[in-house]
Amino acid sequence: MSLVIRVGPARAEWWREHLQGLLPELECRLWDDPGDPDEVRQAVVWKPPVGGLKRFANLEVIVSIGAGIDHVLADTELPRHVPIIRTTGADLSRRMREYVCLHVLRLHRRLPEIEAAQVRREWLPLVNPPACERRVGVMGLGNLGADCARALAAIGFDTAGWSRSRKDIEGVATFAGDSELDAFLERTEILVCLLPLTPATAGILDRSLFARLPEGACIINAARGEHLVDDDLLEALAGGHIRAATLDVFHTEPLPGDHPFWDHPDILVTPHVASLIDPVTGGKAIAENLRRFMNGEHVPDMVDLTKGY
Ligand code: NAP
Ligand code: GLV
Repeated sequence: MSLVIRVGPARAEWWREHLQGLLPELECRLWDDPGDPDEVRQAVVWKPPVGGLKRFANLEVIVSIGAGIDHVLADTELPRHVPIIRTTGADLSRRMREYVCLHVLRLHRRLPEIEAAQVRREWLPLVNPPACERRVGVMGLGNLGADCARALAAIGFDTAGWSRSRKDIEGVATFAGDSELDAFLERTEILVCLLPLTPATAGILDRSLFARLPEGACIINAARGEHLVDDDLLEALAGGHIRAATLDVFHTEPLPGDHPFWDHPDILVTPHVASLIDPVTGGKAIAENLRRFMNGEHVPDMVDLTKGY
């Protein structure tokens, strides 16, 4: 019985060694050297190529090396009967919390303007409102979004969140469903996107959504590139309705060298590093989920494919 791992070449062997150590009862192999495909029962993957998973006729479970599963569902030839487990955990939440708080604070305190002023040797004593007067909104209140909303509220931001079903989070004003989206947007000066990518959320960060935010609002997208309509953001920045954006995820990754985001003065590009899953901590979460699955126990990270995320 073997487990196959598909991840970028730079980290593949690191992953293989860790998972092999954590799951000695399985033979852990790399995607390009899987041995007899009929022996493969588990696949641990990030962005598997179209048609890649159907080679394994006896596959019992697919594990996403990620909280999102959109990169697995993008395989149009995916064996749909095979269950999918996503990867979550305290480590992933902690890293996303750091990223979101860092970038909300950076925009709140207008650090980009101060950094630009330093280049001009200009003393720029900007006066900002305190956090309690800054309205921050988190789209998506799942594992990551709810945790970030709590952390932002703990810093003192006037924090709200929006999700599909209603949530009750202490210190956070919550909005639910399409009917409450406008009310959520109207009060959001710094918007953080932590939605999963689904047909309902693709392209949600578009011209119409930007127009419903207050003048001078900022965008942080740490979810998926496909949530954002790139040209609509460029247009909203040019018109001044959106003040700045911090983007961690892109339609094409790595972001192509000629993309206008790279040298836009009001966009910060980070290379999909908001919350990376590494083989040390992520490997433990994956091994624990796989062991539960193989023992027939409840797996909390099992994806409900009817929901699609
Ligand atoms: P999650 O636990 O599945 O939570 C998703 C949240 O989005 C839930 O609150 C859900 O509402 C809400 N939602 C889904 N569809 C919606 C819709 N149509 N309208 C309104 N709300 C909707 O996901 P997660 O673990 O927090 O992760 C979120 C995403 O972050 C992942 O899918 C991934 O794309 C991204 N991510 C990025 C990085 C990075 O490094 N940049 C790292 C990890 C994850 P309900 O609560 O009602 O279901
Ligand atoms: C990373 O993007 C993830 O989905 O965990």
